[in-house]
Formats: sequence, C-alpha cells, structure tokens
Amino acid sequence: MNRFPVIIDCDPGVDDTAALLLASRMEELDIRAITTVAGNVGVDITTANAIKVRHAMGKDIPIYKGADRPMFRQLVTAEEVHGNDGFGGVEYPHEMTNTEIGEEKAWDAIYRIAKESNGELVIIAVGPMTNIGIALSKYNDLPKYIKRIVIMGGAAIGGNVTPSAEFNIYVDPESADMMFCCGVPVYMCGLDVTLKAYLTPEELDEIGALGSFQGKLFRDVMQGGLKKYLEWGFTGVAMHDPAAVLYAADDSIFETHHVGIRVETKGQLTAGKTVTDLYSDKQMEHNAYIVTDVNREAFVNKVKSLMAKF
Ligand code: RIB
Ligand code: CA
Repeated sequence: MNRFPVIIDCDPGVDDTAALLLASRMEELDIRAITTVAGNVGVDITTANAIKVRHAMGKDIPIYKGADRPMFRQLVTAEEVHGNDGFGGVEYPHEMTNTEIGEEKAWDAIYRIAKESNGELVIIAVGPMTNIGIALSKYNDLPKYIKRIVIMGGAAIGGNVTPSAEFNIYVDPESADMMFCCGVPVYMCGLDVTLKAYLTPEELDEIGALGSFQGKLFRDVMQGGLKKYLEWGFTGVAMHDPAAVLYAADDSIFETHHVGIRVETKGQLTAGKTVTDLYSDKQMEHNAYIVTDVNREAFVNKVKSLMAKF
C-alpha cells in the first residue's frame, strides 16, 4: 500500500464531511492538513465544521483557514443543499477537545507543507479552488513541489449550477483555470463520475446503523442532500467529494482519460465550464486527466468497509 502526504482543501459542506470521515480511515492518506475555503457556506462556517469533523476523524490534524471569497468574483453559496450551517442541520453530538486552528492562512500552509513534502504532496481539493489560486499567485515556484492535484469539480458534460458549470468551478473559475495551467497534473472527478457515485437511502441507513457515532453522523448530515436529490428524480445522493478522496487513494475502480482541460472565465452562459477535448477531434494540450466512470458497487462497498472500521 502506497502511503503519501495529502492536504484536503474543502468547504464542509455535507459531502465534504463524508469525504473527511472516509479519508481519516484510509491508510494511504497521510493527512498533513485540512484547509478551508468559502463555498457551500461562508469560510467561518466551513472552518467551524472542519473543526467538528476533525474531532470525529479522531486525528489531531492541523486546520488552516483560507479564502472568504473567490479571487475575482462575489461568493456564491449552496445552503439549499448543505443547510445554513453547512452541516445538514445536524447538532454535533460531542464536546470538541481541540478547537484550535493554525495561525497561517491556508495558501501559506499549502506552500510550506508542499516544500516540506519533497515533491510528494498530493492536494485533494473538494471546494472552490480559491486557496490554490492564491497560493499559485503568491508562490510562483509552488508547482514544482506538488506531485498532483485531485479535485472534485467540473464536468465534461453538463453542470449543477448552470447547464454549463459545476459548483466548485463556477464559484471561482479563474482560480480553477490557473490550477489547470500551472503544470501540476490535475485529476478531475467531475459530475461525469460523481453523479454515478451515489448512495441510496438504504445504503446510507446501513452506514448509519454500523454502530459508531461517525457512521450515524455520515448518514445524518447527508439526509438534507438526499431529500433534494430524490426530489430531483435521482435514485440516491451523489457522493461528490467522497468520490475524489477514494480516487486519490485508489483509482482502480474508476475510468480515467488523459485530456486537455481549461476553464471558461468570460462566458455569460458558460462561465465556469470545464472545456475538454475528450469528445472532440480538436485536440488541446493534454494537461490533465478526467475521471468519467466508476464501478458503483465497488464504490459503495469501499465506503461501507471504511466506515465500518470504527
Ligand atoms: O458540485 C458539487 C460540489 O460542490 C461538492 O464539492 C459540494 O461539496 C459542493 O462544494
Ligand atoms: Ca465540497
């Protein structure tokens, strides 16, 4: 088993919460830091939620607070899926022993940890990529210290905020495009795969019934999102961020293609679209990888086995 250093950059966020719980159970991931960003809700709330989830993860992982808005735009949030508290309206059931966060801003911590990790650092980004955009702007030698970036974001086809754009990219398309252009290989787990990586109500209830408070928390925070997805006609709730975390640890149950990916930042109808040559004979520079499919049964079994660990 290959264990490697990671930073998880996130906007908890109910599926971010599920992703962090899963990440804490994966031997492959040596989580050096959690960095928070404004996205699903404001950054004070995403940071407060990260502190709660850190307690549930059972590991004393440093948390560094990041950007409170996109680099060049107004913040767009997603309370309708995540709740005003970004935690699905769930009361965290425990007193937290550690509520401290690091002094450094997220982008400074990303640079420091990248340099400390001898070129082995993998960044798993499951919120808007603003912290990465700021880090790249401030430290132009950052790319040489990052092995790869695995993101939840984008889509070759479709969108969930507009018909063209997925939320994480839509919120801060400029930062996302800077990331795709910085020279670090980016692995994009977009809607093409994350909408296939869903959990049914019964599968969520199985996780909630595993006997641990973490399993119950995993299930409970997803209930609001599940209700929305069922209303929208889906069979279950898309586990967007968990898909990216599972991919980073083991991509064997996923389908990946080496492609070109850039982000539209100017379009009126298309701002935030991840433009890829996957379905075009007009080739682009192949700077990234798009994940297009997953074996859902294997995905669900992996999620269940990880959450059953304790
Ligand atoms: O489009 C889904 C993404 O947007 C997920 O990361 C979810 O947490 C929200 O941030
Ligand atoms: Ca997220």
